[in-house]
Amino acid sequence: MKQYVLALDQGTSSSRAVLFDQKAKMVGVAQKELKQTYPKPGWVEYDPKTIYKDQLEVLYEVLKKTKVSISQVATIGITNQRESVVVWEKRSGKPIYNCISWQDTRTTLMCNDLKDEEEGIEAYIKETTGLLLDPYFSATKVQWILDNVSGARRKAENGELLFGTIDTWLLWNLTEGESHLTDFTNASRTLLFNIAELKWDDELLEKFRIPREMLPEVTHSGYYFGTAKLQGAEIQITGVAGDQQASMFGQGCVEPGQAKNTYGTGCFILMNTGETIQHSKNGLLTTIALGFNGKIDYALEGSVFVAGAAVQWLRDGLEMIRTADESEAIAKNANPESGVYVVPAFAGLGAPFWDMYARGGIFGLTRDSNQSDIVKATLDSMAYQTRDVLQAMAADSGLQLTDLKVDGGACVNNYLMQFQANIMNIQVERPTVIETTALGAAYLAGITAGIWNKDSIFKKRSIDKVFKPKMDDFTRAKLYEGWHNAVKRCMNWAR
Ligand code: G3P
Repeated sequence: MKQYVLALDQGTSSSRAVLFDQKAKMVGVAQKELKQTYPKPGWVEYDPKTIYKDQLEVLYEVLKKTKVSISQVATIGITNQRESVVVWEKRSGKPIYNCISWQDTRTTLMCNDLKDEEEGIEAYIKETTGLLLDPYFSATKVQWILDNVSGARRKAENGELLFGTIDTWLLWNLTEGESHLTDFTNASRTLLFNIAELKWDDELLEKFRIPREMLPEVTHSGYYFGTAKLQGAEIQITGVAGDQQASMFGQGCVEPGQAKNTYGTGCFILMNTGETIQHSKNGLLTTIALGFNGKIDYALEGSVFVAGAAVQWLRDGLEMIRTADESEAIAKNANPESGVYVVPAFAGLGAPFWDMYARGGIFGLTRDSNQSDIVKATLDSMAYQTRDVLQAMAADSGLQLTDLKVDGGACVNNYLMQFQANIMNIQVERPTVIETTALGAAYLAGITAGIWNKDSIFKKRSIDKVFKPKMDDFTRAKLYEGWHNAVKRCMNWAR
């Protein structure tokens, strides 16, 4: 009997496959770290073929681990790192260039030139797409590929090339080239999509010189996206959403005012604003939260570029820790009054500062500072950055959050979660299943396929732990002031 729902979660640092049973209980996970390359400072790429190959590998691995056969899978949901782009040949399926990651800042100058040349472009972009003219988003990355790969522009104009974010790339491969589709959440991150009218914007396509023929068709996140052909079996794909939007759904943030933070490579804090588009006055993005059941929900988003990636840097770059888990005990034992701050602005600063010229720094060192202080300060930086975004959200929405739902790898770190509650002075709620991104994609696919019911599914959510603030106001204010002093010093560094 077909009774399982399989979520494919293609993230920045890893590809995962997560299997859920008929009761939406997670029964297995397989994961593989994704190789990233850094050909030049600021450049971040992946091999698109590897992305697909890894994704298939973990798909089969989770089935093997759980002894579930592919024919028992009723439906697949896909969720993915957003904004990263692949351009490939329609006929051969061959990518014409590596996948350019959302973290890649090579198009900084292109963004600046456009700002200088085109008066009013920033306002137009904000109004139409809810975003900012920043290298983070897809448009200038596609433009870069078309301008820099020999013959690419001509081929694109002749309709020989296709563009996709990672969801589209996986879909196209899983369906053997039958589906060239994306969903509203992923489209809303490209800088090319009109989020009010729900269509690609011709004016922006012209500004970024991207031929319309390359673009996928856009649809709701719960939809029949095609049929995956896997070892002779045919499995429908009925859910697609960008990873941050999927985790929001998995966390049950479906009412206006509900917010979540995912501690992944970066930190992504999203607040549901319901069916109204709210434009931020405080450096946040407006994005599509979900297109589901014929209705569009919007969200305010604060994207922090470096969070978990800073822990990776402690491990692989500085070699101060052997595993990410170690950081919890080290931080707990570090001097809470060391006064050391790490600002991990390795790829500039995202929300709410949006300074692509910012660079990282370590501040407040004294002769007795040690590795523990740096490890602790790196974890603290995730909490400070989250507070920066939540404050902007409160200012924009007029809503004061009373709790924050958390998920993603680093939320298992109890030191970090307690410090997060302390520095924000609100409670932090960690669910039992922290795989909320995969869960959200599975919910979308399972509900759309008629396996689960939307109203009853969220009742199954259970909480692992609630962290209550335990810090006095004076300490909180003093620490937070120190953070902003450090941030100020990092801004504009590389200009
Ligand atoms: O916008 C980028 C975001 O979707 C990446 O998420 O979890 O892969 O770091 P993650």
